[in-house]
Formats: sequence, structure tokens, C-alpha cells
Amino acid sequence: MSLRITGIGSCVPSKVVSNDELSKFLDTSDEWISKRVGIKNRHVCTTEGVTDMAVTAAKAAMEDAGVGAGDIDLIIGSTVSGDMLLPTLSCLVQKNIGATCMAFDISAACSSFLFLLETAKAYFSIGMKRILLVCGEQMSRMVDWTDRSCAVIFGDAAGAAVVEKDDSNLYESVFSVSGNDDVIKINMPFGNSPFKTAEQPENPMFLQMKGQETFKYAVGAMSSGIKDVLSKAHLNISDVKYIVPHQANQRILSFTAERLGLDEGQVISIISEYGNTSSSSIPLALNIMNENKMLKKGDVFVMTAFGAGLSSGSIVTKWAKD
Ligand code: UT7
Repeated sequence: MSLRITGIGSCVPSKVVSNDELSKFLDTSDEWISKRVGIKNRHVCTTEGVTDMAVTAAKAAMEDAGVGAGDIDLIIGSTVSGDMLLPTLSCLVQKNIGATCMAFDISAACSSFLFLLETAKAYFSIGMKRILLVCGEQMSRMVDWTDRSCAVIFGDAAGAAVVEKDDSNLYESVFSVSGNDDVIKINMPFGNSPFKTAEQPENPMFLQMKGQETFKYAVGAMSSGIKDVLSKAHLNISDVKYIVPHQANQRILSFTAERLGLDEGQVISIISEYGNTSSSSIPLALNIMNENKMLKKGDVFVMTAFGAGLSSGSIVTKWAKD
């Protein structure tokens, strides 16, 4: 069972926030952020929300694929920072694009786009033909803007893809999950139940992250994931045109390139202008590559991601669009 991406789209808010702007209210500097993370700017929501961005990205992906709402069999969404806990992002997208198909969300935090692709593959095996995948994140509502170690690294964006069943295309995947709520987490609001006696968790609704532990996990998970997925597909690293990784830190991408003996240019990096946009980062990068005509039909590329869970995944496939 296999699939191919037939349409890709993305959306970022128009407000761009530079490192210098952050250093006006945080004890940080352009020099520290550029050197330690590789980010110069990030896009941050002002009036728009996750749904607006996700709908724009979804419409762009459908236009790129040349399909309408009635051609979509299923919408699968993902967000950790949506406008609403319910209805799901996929339901809000379904409503706004005028589709009537089934829609639901899944979450694997920053790794979500790859879990969406794998879930789509499973649905193709039971007869579906065309699925819309959509990720949207407003991480600017999930970070504590007084916490310099988190606030400087995230950005807001949405990314979407139309995927179709195509058993002739290359598709191989590996996934890993090791349950852990110590390294990266966001606690839910405590609520006001008069019966709740447990202690209130700290910093509800703010992202809490152990940066260095996440960093080590990321480099290990991405480099072993890429090796494992290529071995499963009987391919060598020399067969790969591009690695499209989750964008979390330029140093993570550089270490991964070094471990695999890749040229830095083969490991796609958009982090300097967008920061870490969580589940949206891979479809956003793919859309930028598509717009810049970097991908040619038949190019082998590996998508690789990691995130809270802890979860990680790597998928090797061929670009199958003209
Ligand atoms: O998609 C979600 C996954 N998240 C990630 O992949 C994040 C992975 N981790 C990272 O990218 C890095 O660990 C961070 C960017 C979060 C932190 O960078 P680091 O090089 O690991 O810094 P550190 O935590 O070891 O801190 C070094 C110093 C500390 O100061 P002292 O204790 O040495 O005086 C921090 O307080 O840097 C300080 N620091 C900052 N300084 C200026 C931390 N954040 C900042 C900042 N500006 N924004």
C-alpha cells in the first residue's frame, strides 16, 4: 500500500517578529538566538487564528492538486494549539472548505504530519482514494512569553497536503514512541471542579521543555530514523536528494547532516525565517520547496520528525508531482 502527495499548501501570519524585537522585553539577543538556534525571524498571529491559517493552507493544497471539496474522502487534522479543543481542527476545516466527508484529528505533537501520512496510508487500504491532511499551530499561545528558553524558538503556521492512493510510488516508514511526560509537556487547565482534590499542575497551558534533553533525543531519533527507513526501503543515503526535517534548531539539523555524511544543502532548513512551527514545519517546508521548484518528479526524499510523546518518525518517498 502506498501513496503520493498531489497537492501542498501552507499559510503563515503576516506579522514577522525579529530577534531584536524579542530582546526588547526578554533577556535575550539576536546573537544568542542566531548562534544557538539559527532563528532570525518568526511569524506570529495577531488577528488570525489556527483555523484561518489551516483553511488557507488546505485550500491552497486542494488548488495545487486540482481537486475540489467534493473530491476529498477524509480530512485528518492535527494541532496542539488550535482555536478550540472541540470541535476538532479537521471539522473546522471541513466546514470552511465546504466538504461533507469524515473528519477527525490525531496528535503526535511536532511529529504529527508523518503520523497523518501513515494514518492516510491505512485508510487507503480500506478503499479511500484521496485524503486531505492539515496541520495548524499557533505556538505563540502555548509559550510563556516570560520564558526566554521557549519563547524565542517557536512560530505560527499551517501546512496541508492532498494525498492519493498510489501503489506504484515508493513509501516506507519507521516510527518510534517512548511515553515520557518529563521532557516536553503542556498541562491542561485545572478546571474549577469543587470535587478535585489533587494538586494543581504548574504552568497550565504553557509549553514546558527540557531543551538539552530534547536536543539529544532529536539528533539520535532523526539520524537513526533516516538510516532505518532507508534500510527498510533497500536504499542508500546516496539515493536521497533531500532530507525534509522537523525544524527545531539549526544545530540539530547540522549535527544530523554531519552524522549521515550529507551536505548541509541537502537537509532543508527554513528555520531562520519561521522558527519551530511544530506539526506545520514539514508541510510548510515542502510547500516552500514546491514553490521554488526544488523537487522534480521522481526525486527521493526523506521526511523526519520528533517531538513530545516522545515520538519520532521517518518516511522515505518519491516526489510524484509534475
Ligand atoms: O519541537 C519541539 C522540540 N524542541 C526542540 O527541539 C528544542 C531542542 N533544544 C534546543 O533547541 C536548545 O536546547 C534550546 C534552544 C532550547 C536551548 O539552547 P541550549 O544551547 O541548549 O541552551 P541551555 O539550555 O544549555 O542554556 C545555556 C544558557 C543558560 O544560561 P546559563 O545558565 O549558562 O547562565 C540559559 O539560561 O543560555 C541561557 N539561555 C538564553 N540566553 C539568551 C536560554 N535561553 C536563552 C535565550 N537568550 N533565549
